[in-house]
Amino acid sequence: MEKYKKAVELIKNSKNLVAFTGAGISKESGVPTFRGEDGLWSKYDPIILDIDYFKNNPKESWEAIRDIFYKYMQNVKPNPAHYFLADLEKRGILKGIVTQNIDNLHQKAGSRNVIEFHGNTRDVVCMGCGRKYPVDVVNFENLPPFCPVCGEVLKPDFVFFGEPIPEDAFRKSIELMENADTLLIIGTTGEIMPASQLPYLCKGKIIEINPNKSAYTDKIVDIYIPEKAGVAAEILENLI
Ligand code: APR
Repeated sequence: MEKYKKAVELIKNSKNLVAFTGAGISKESGVPTFRGEDGLWSKYDPIILDIDYFKNNPKESWEAIRDIFYKYMQNVKPNPAHYFLADLEKRGILKGIVTQNIDNLHQKAGSRNVIEFHGNTRDVVCMGCGRKYPVDVVNFENLPPFCPVCGEVLKPDFVFFGEPIPEDAFRKSIELMENADTLLIIGTTGEIMPASQLPYLCKGKIIEINPNKSAYTDKIVDIYIPEKAGVAAEILENLI
């Protein structure tokens, strides 16, 4: 409990609190993580998210992507950890969330300043002309979808392996990290570049919530809470 009290003190006294989240924050909402025992990459080959592979095999990639991401995405709900961050923003304490997630759960919980470092599942983008459409235009029974204007393949508007990070998201993330006096890292292994480098830009104190140690835990974390995000968030919310 001492750790929770210390974390609450830091959070309450911070002027520029920022959160950095990964797949683990959505685990208790039923969204699978990528790595770990029952992670997606133990069942699927990550090559389906490689941009060159997608270009050559759009049908196969899309079918796997549909099964992995889109089948459950409509029905998942935020958990106490997402609501905790949304509440901190409403109170004026949290300045923004940099998320690697594409599941829209921060926004569903009411968070406003959410930087989607890896894009999102809400839209699709044309590989030819770059036009964007809401994902509703996709007929999941007849994949891949094509651009109604130029006829090229449509791709989910999230970042594939081998693709650059959206410029705007990259710039805003760096700005948030550099100005953060406290950083809350929740549910990421901290292994995937360049997202994994962001927390190192923070000059302030770092709190981490993750049942397992990450690449950050023994290096830059000041308060490590080895707990599931939803469980820890409820305890913190009650103490604040
Ligand atoms: N609460 C908090 N953390 C949890 C929970 C939980 N209930 N359950 C698991 N975790 C932690 C795991 O211990 C692990 O550290 O969540 C982390 C999930 O790690 P990854 O699956 O590697 O997810 P992430 O770090 O977000 O992956 C980064 O990799 O494949 C790419 O683009 C994809 O954005 C993704 C990126």
